[in-house]
Amino acid sequence: MNLPRSAAASAMRGGVIVPAAYRYNAKHPENQMPKLTIIAFDGTQYHFDVQNGSTVMENAVRNSVPGIEAECGGACACATCHVYVDEEWSATVGAPEAMEEDMLDFAYDVKPTSRLSCQIKMSEGLDGLVVHVPERQA
Ligand code: FES
Repeated sequence: MNLPRSAAASAMRGGVIVPAAYRYNAKHPENQMPKLTIIAFDGTQYHFDVQNGSTVMENAVRNSVPGIEAECGGACACATCHVYVDEEWSATVGAPEAMEEDMLDFAYDVKPTSRLSCQIKMSEGLDGLVVHVPERQA
């Protein structure tokens, strides 16, 4: 196997190879992992420490949160990753861009705080973000 030296060292230690952008670095607290809470429709809360740059959808799917289908894999082409951003976070997360706005037309029970979770990238600014899963996807 032909791996970069750092990846090979990680593999030799039996570790999972994690891209540099996702590694925790104590010298750079800005690289700490933001917290994400996803609240399923039945009220079950899922709490995660997530990688900067990962999307809410990726974290939901990776952790089998019910109600996030993500049929297109994050290409903003299916609207089955629809979530409601918690009211407290809506302004911080911001409004959808034009393509996402168009796809939201296909989502079920769209509200002012609706977003496609594949279009929300986690960052330090979103540390503590809370989103809610709708009753069903379209
Ligand atoms: S995963 Fe398809 S639009 Fe988000």
